[in-house]
Amino acid sequence: MAISFSRLNLSRLSLRFALPLALILALSAYVVVPLVDHLTVRWFVHDLDARSSLLANTLETQLQEYVPTNERRKISRLFDKAVKDERLYALAFCDANGKLLYKTTTYADALGCPKSPEKAGALNSLVRLPQGSLHFAVSPIDLEGERLGNLILVHDMSFIERRSVDTKRYVMALFVVLAIIISLVTVFIAHMSWRGWIKSVRTILSGDIFSPINPDAAPEIKPLVSDLRALLHEMNLERRERDNTSQLWTPEKLRGLLHDELAGDEILVVSNREPYIHNKGKNAIEVQRPASGLVTAVEPVMRACSGTWVAHGAGSADRETVDSKDHVQVPPSNPSYTLRRVWLTEAEENGYYYGFANEGLWPLCHIAHVRPVFRSSDWEQYVAVNQRFADAVVKEAHTDDPVVLVQDYHLALLPRMIYEQLPKATIITFWHIPWPNPESFGICPWREEILEGLLGSTILGFHTPFHCKNFIETVDRYLETRIEHEASTISYGGKLTQVEDYPISIAWPDPELVASQPSVAETRKAIRQELGLPDDHLLGLGLDRLDYTKGIIERFQAVERLLETHPSMIGRFTLLQIAAPSRSSLAEYQNFDAQVRAMVQRINDRFSSSSYVPIILKVEHHSTEEVNRHYRAADVCLVTSLHDGMNLVAKEFVAERDDERGVLLLSQFTGAARELHEALIVNPYHIDQTAAELYRALTMPAVEQRERMRSMRSLVKDFNVYRWAGRMLVDAARMRRRERIIAKIQSHSKKHFARRD
Ligand code: F6P
Repeated sequence: MAISFSRLNLSRLSLRFALPLALILALSAYVVVPLVDHLTVRWFVHDLDARSSLLANTLETQLQEYVPTNERRKISRLFDKAVKDERLYALAFCDANGKLLYKTTTYADALGCPKSPEKAGALNSLVRLPQGSLHFAVSPIDLEGERLGNLILVHDMSFIERRSVDTKRYVMALFVVLAIIISLVTVFIAHMSWRGWIKSVRTILSGDIFSPINPDAAPEIKPLVSDLRALLHEMNLERRERDNTSQLWTPEKLRGLLHDELAGDEILVVSNREPYIHNKGKNAIEVQRPASGLVTAVEPVMRACSGTWVAHGAGSADRETVDSKDHVQVPPSNPSYTLRRVWLTEAEENGYYYGFANEGLWPLCHIAHVRPVFRSSDWEQYVAVNQRFADAVVKEAHTDDPVVLVQDYHLALLPRMIYEQLPKATIITFWHIPWPNPESFGICPWREEILEGLLGSTILGFHTPFHCKNFIETVDRYLETRIEHEASTISYGGKLTQVEDYPISIAWPDPELVASQPSVAETRKAIRQELGLPDDHLLGLGLDRLDYTKGIIERFQAVERLLETHPSMIGRFTLLQIAAPSRSSLAEYQNFDAQVRAMVQRINDRFSSSSYVPIILKVEHHSTEEVNRHYRAADVCLVTSLHDGMNLVAKEFVAERDDERGVLLLSQFTGAARELHEALIVNPYHIDQTAAELYRALTMPAVEQRERMRSMRSLVKDFNVYRWAGRMLVDAARMRRRERIIAKIQSHSKKHFARRD
């Protein structure tokens, strides 16, 4: 669920409103009201003193007459009349020796004859009325120069307390109203000045970047103008550059970009699969290149950029070939970068790689109708191994802000783990497989942790816009983040992640190298001879890891249907299926292997003759050179994945066909189908359609083959893997600059508003 900007603005506004309000109320409650109260009481006491003295003067004459003759009844009447006044509570008269002579009934005996009002006041607690305290006044009465006695006047002060409470109430109410008005004015002024500030930034961003600075721009914006404009200018150039498809991306260009855009910063790649595996052979150590789209794509980028590649050392001779720091320089024939191997125990590999990554995340992300399996023990290993990789990356980094390229679903937690240790690093994560919809992803018991891990990335890349959309929707469903849909950014825990599609590709082969290979005609002949097929035999090629997502079973069914519907193809067409063994310790893969073999057996039994087999299955690893020879020898390449992030076999086939011949049959469920429109696009679940398209491919006129192949070749050449990496690195450089500018803007705006407040 996204927290919108307006919500943030609202909380900022509320703060601006509440703060002055609270300050003013506190001031009035703790300073103003007690002060006003004190003053009011003092005024009233003063009034009562004056009133007492006036009253004493009024009674004096009668007392001078009645006291000497002890006219008790007259005095009593006089006193009773006087205390009818609602505020005069009691009266008493004491002689000069302090003896109480006369008093009203309301005058408590305990009060006696105090000599001064202070002494009388001290007795207040003895006669405290329920409604409040009393005021005492002592007035001496003289007769012919002799002291007759003291008249004691006692006033009820409760009316003062009542008035004081009223006054407090009025003052408080007045201050509340004042505080609200002041707070509203503050909010209004702050809002207007923020709007003015934003307007200035907008004017600068939307105007001509070379025009002079608008004199109306807010003064605090002016120091930022050049930075903002430079950023805008660079973004424009980048966009133009991106649109300019005619510019070929080469290793040199990528190197130049690293130097110019990222000031030659160090590059670290981290993946589970290593690019070179050292295995113990019969007589010596052999180097193997794994069957991996990831390696196919990233290896040429590393050759161009140098740096360090951190990966799991899985080969049987890997430990024997590293130095004391677990480093080995690769490629073995011409070293240009460092491979740092991470060692895993069998239990770790089982839990992290086979278990969580390949029995859990792999089927979860591919819609191939295989149930994902999630085990807590696998998850624990996945977390621990991700941490191990993160520590290795941090150890390999020579600077605090390297560019780290994190690869694939094995390392989903790594971006955040690296971010926590190297907050200045630029982390580019690429997810090589599809990203499912939120419902499908939601079944992962650790979905939040996976999403949080990935959102440690600066840039998160997928093959297609559709996978990006699925990811953003998944985050929206399961995490509390701020999503900017237009900019395709997600802000989580203070970290901004750009989510973009970067369709992966291959290194366009060096034309000289291609020309130095045997010609297509020679290769066709050689391969057919190796397979025991006539020179003019039609050859289809399937080349995959032996994986249930690749649609190998459906491909065989389509071949069977072709032979059923077009019997003329029996004896004329053979499918060569090269399947690199993969994840074979998993039961799902063992079952799949058995299923594939059984199906080949069944179809071959059905259509074979003494000189013909419809399907040749080779479950074995092939070197890059061997794979390329087969691409060049085939009439049609069948890529029938049930779901595939990109599928680089399709692009490799196209790249190898410098003769502009051959047809690509491509599943609509691959990322590649979004780019290679001239392939024959099929739904692999629709066996009849796939068979019909296979027939169309095998009978396609040379001219049409050339047209289609030419167009696809030009696309793969332009949108090669250097462009893929280049686009991500350009975006990373842009985000680095953007973060610097945002930090600058924030510190400016803080200073600016601190000054205003
Ligand atoms: O498709 C995802 C991916 O990592 C590819 O990059 C690669 O082709 C394949 O899986 C390799 O799988 P593994 O490393 O398990 O052999």
